Amino acid sequence: MTRPSSRLTGFYRLTPAQRREILAAWAELTPAEQVALDGGLDLAAADRLIENVVGLFSLPLAVAPNFLINGREYLMPLVIEEPSVVAAMANAARLARAGGGFATGSTEPIMIGQVQLLHIPDLDAAAERILAHKEELLAALADLHPTIRQRGGGPRDLQVRRLDHPDTGPMLVVHLLFDTRDAMGANAVNTAAERLAPALETLSGGRVVLRILSNLSTERRAWASCRIPVTAFDDEGYAGAEVAAGIAAATALAEVDPYRAATHNKGIFNGIDAVALATGQDWRALEAGGHAWAARDGRYRSLSEWRLEHDHLSGRLEMPLAVGVVGGMTRHHPTARLALKLLGWPDARTLAELIVAAGLAQNLAALRALAAEGIQRGHMRLHARRTATA
Ligand code: MEV
Repeated sequence: MTRPSSRLTGFYRLTPAQRREILAAWAELTPAEQVALDGGLDLAAADRLIENVVGLFSLPLAVAPNFLINGREYLMPLVIEEPSVVAAMANAARLARAGGGFATGSTEPIMIGQVQLLHIPDLDAAAERILAHKEELLAALADLHPTIRQRGGGPRDLQVRRLDHPDTGPMLVVHLLFDTRDAMGANAVNTAAERLAPALETLSGGRVVLRILSNLSTERRAWASCRIPVTAFDDEGYAGAEVAAGIAAATALAEVDPYRAATHNKGIFNGIDAVALATGQDWRALEAGGHAWAARDGRYRSLSEWRLEHDHLSGRLEMPLAVGVVGGMTRHHPTARLALKLLGWPDARTLAELIVAAGLAQNLAALRALAAEGIQRGHMRLHARRTATA
């Protein structure tokens, strides 16, 4: 489907009702889908999702226009309570358009399940035996998750890691690599890890404790990049070249200082979590994986990088991103389904790529404001509006 341009000038000046009209026409929303803009989960559905339900809790749903990703137009659905994030993201998407938008990519959707083995009499021999029986162990998972298999997914590999702790002594951790296709895959991987455990105990002579997925899904990553002419940053008395240089300099601090890196990455998650919430994802899993990835070489640092290359600013963000478009909330929550429709019913890999582009856009927006007028001007304008309304 060719989509209309997502460059919607003046969208922010409209009333919510006018914005809905534009959105409904843009995304060809049916009347039933438009109803989902007003809430989504009802009490009975909520009661089926979690325990001890007593009510529902609402947050604002917005869209950020202007996104061009791999040459396709997107309105980005965002659920967030923090003022300025949506406006800033729309602005960043507009800036990225000046350089052709965002380009994205991703790995295959491979999750990692961990099985921990303690009290092993001979670690080397156990590791060798497990690897020698790899094909058999993977074949024993053949009957699990037929829908994932029908889509081309399934178990891919086993790896053995050796770790040590003063309280437990040496241990083996077996990693099961499992392609979960369009599912986030937590249930699939946990079931498979549990299925493997008895055979691993027999092969190692040890005792299994943990059998659970890892949220550091290093084999399931997505990345986004953009390259923007510095003149695009010319604005209200700020020279674009200086703003772009400021963005690169701010990133340098986030690369060497965990105090700044935490805030820098928080800005990235303002974008990632907002799309993740709108599309019904487990955003805690994304946060856990992202922050662990940011510390992968022993020191916590920025997830993104921004470099000044002559008259262009180049940005890139790559990180683990385990998201799904089947099962869980994506099935039960009408507003999450609406958000997925708005994004053109992406598969899980595409959704991960769109989310990482939103993270990079939000990062750019924050750094641009910090390098130019400072973050408080936009915040305070919105704060004033809220106080006046209250
Ligand atoms: C605020 O929610 C996020 C920022 O602090 C991010 C940053 O400093 O890069 C503005």
